[in-house]
Amino acid sequence: MQVFEQWESEIRGYCRAYPTVFKTASNSRQVDEDGQSYIDFFAGAGVLNFGHNNPDMKRALIEYIESDGVAHSLDMYTTPKREFIEAFVDTVLKPRGWNYKMQFMGPTGTNAVEAALKLARRSTGRRTVVAFTHGFHGMTLGSLACTANAAFRNAAGVPLENVVRAPFDLEALEAGTQQDALNAVAQMREQFLDTSSGLEAPAAFMVEAIQAEGGVHVASEPWLKAVQDLAHELGALFIIDDIQAGCGRTGQYFSFDGMDLDPDIICLAKGIGGFGTPLAMNLNKPEHDQHWNPGEHTGTFRGQNFSFIAGREGLRYFENDELMKSTLKKGETIRTVLDELASEFSQHGFTVRGKGMMQAIDLKDGALSKAIAKACFENSLLVGPCGTGGRVIKFIPPLTIPDEDLDEGLTIFKQQFSTVVGQA
Ligand SMILES: Cc1ncc(COP(=O)(O)O)c(C=O)c1O
Repeated sequence: MQVFEQWESEIRGYCRAYPTVFKTASNSRQVDEDGQSYIDFFAGAGVLNFGHNNPDMKRALIEYIESDGVAHSLDMYTTPKREFIEAFVDTVLKPRGWNYKMQFMGPTGTNAVEAALKLARRSTGRRTVVAFTHGFHGMTLGSLACTANAAFRNAAGVPLENVVRAPFDLEALEAGTQQDALNAVAQMREQFLDTSSGLEAPAAFMVEAIQAEGGVHVASEPWLKAVQDLAHELGALFIIDDIQAGCGRTGQYFSFDGMDLDPDIICLAKGIGGFGTPLAMNLNKPEHDQHWNPGEHTGTFRGQNFSFIAGREGLRYFENDELMKSTLKKGETIRTVLDELASEFSQHGFTVRGKGMMQAIDLKDGALSKAIAKACFENSLLVGPCGTGGRVIKFIPPLTIPDEDLDEGLTIFKQQFSTVVGQA
């Protein structure tokens, strides 16, 4: 590890929480150089929905490389891109009766968010975007302006402008009832409609239907609908950032499926490249997409062919409901364990939140949750804290995790949780 400490930037993050050198990985396991096998409940922060080294994707990638398939080609037309687009249309868009243009950009989530912000501003001719408390949308300046966390914002070095902050669903934040949450939207509406409020008409409302990094806050359908209705009443775009909660994580392809929502732009990244191969994609309503001029939001690595190959394999999981059914079942298993722990230690007031295989326990105390995550690592389980001060422990294992690994990981978690909380 000395090489990293000597030569790699101080910016190093996750490696400080998991101080070992990983060498191999398979499905829900990562193995370090000493042969220690770790159960991965973190899955690359929601990238590895289909597991490490997914065998179908690996085979498809090897075949493609061995056949001298084009690895890099900017955004030129390629066979894997066509096959990915066709599969996405058939598997995701058509069953929902949706018509969106698919935009590829630089392969990170923050690139997708930047593109969405530009398009919303272009489409409306307005500047201000409404983003929500506890939201996380990425680290580049436009996205960072939408991200709420002060630690990240403070690194910007310049003012983060053209964003107004509104309260996320108060019920999801455990800060009020559903009525309180709806009242907050109604109040925002009054302010925007009041020509003396000093507020400019917004270009867009940017929201996660489930805030992941922000602490696993699951917005309700009525609140999301109220935000969408307000956006449309004001002539603004309704943008859902489904970068972490999408691609099957919640037991359905989109985290907001079944909610009768009609976003103008949907941002996807992370899991969509399947193998950990990077890919980001926005779904733009054609009436907005038409405002782009060719090549206006470029990125050398937009639309990676390896990611299209693996991402196309990933879409096969959505041709039937097998994976989504097992995702819901495994999500219930995690939820049950967390509920049991919360009630066993009820004097601490821990709360449990989540949907599908994004579940979390809120310890209300960053030091405590970090101590639990550390103890889990020392006992070969990878879990990641999130939320304000890292007070929430989030469970996002690969959706393909075998039951034995899930059970073993949960047993480790229960033991370490009980020990650490018992000593607190
Ligand atoms: C909801 C959401 N949006 C955007 C991003 C930024 O993605 P990236 O880190 O790939 O830029 C993330 C990353 O965690 C995310 O969870």
